[in-house]
Amino acid sequence: MVRSLLVANWKMYKTVAESQAFVQEWLERRAKTDRAAEQVICPTLPALYVLAQALRGRDIRVGAQTLDLGREGANTGAVSGYLLREAGASYVIVGHSERRRLYGEDDAVVRDQAVAALECGLKPIICVGESRAERELGRTDAVILHQVQSVIQALNDLADTVFAYEPVWAIGTGLVPTAEEADRVAGVIQDALVRAYPNSGGTVRILYGGSVNRQTVREFAAAPRLDGALVGGASLDVEHWIALNQGWMEVRG
Ligand code: PGA
Repeated sequence: MVRSLLVANWKMYKTVAESQAFVQEWLERRAKTDRAAEQVICPTLPALYVLAQALRGRDIRVGAQTLDLGREGANTGAVSGYLLREAGASYVIVGHSERRRLYGEDDAVVRDQAVAALECGLKPIICVGESRAERELGRTDAVILHQVQSVIQALNDLADTVFAYEPVWAIGTGLVPTAEEADRVAGVIQDALVRAYPNSGGTVRILYGGSVNRQTVREFAAAPRLDGALVGGASLDVEHWIALNQGWMEVRG
């Protein structure tokens, strides 16, 4: 059975000191939780290295929220996957809808980022999702398939990849699809992965993301084709984060 994966996406929140305080409190309280999903925190870039140091040797990973292509070079402002890996990241989110919308990272960029991540030993968490307009036009499956296929065509292997179904209209809005609908779309993703990679496609973890909180997490945990969650707002509070893990594990542990 694949291990569940819960990913905290802190976006542009928390200073270095606040990030350290979260981790400190989490480590103290976490001892009381006997069973846990695999957990990854994706902090702001300035906090990544210190959190990776603080979590060394613990069963908790640190991830980045995006990466730039290449290894090193005269690219002002850029941070490559190689640098992130060396700073202690194990995972990296690619294709998040905020990156697609605010920074123009289109399917081609997302594909190259996924390839670059794997090349330097980072596990890409590849986000796909339809907008509200696309959903209303009945284009959800077509959009998802297009986004998934554009990435997997460029990969040699799916080992170390994670996919996240993140309907754009559910991110930060408090709106969520039903667990049945999220599970159905996870099935669309899984079918595409299995068609492309009959041996390994079925073992790739598929997460749900978009307004997951301690109330809704149990419903998504009950969806058989979901292997975890990508959580924004509700991951910023330690107590809430612990409750999320407990809620998921109560259903899936
Ligand atoms: P949210 O964000 O949980 O705040 O909706 C999810 C995400 O952006 O991954």
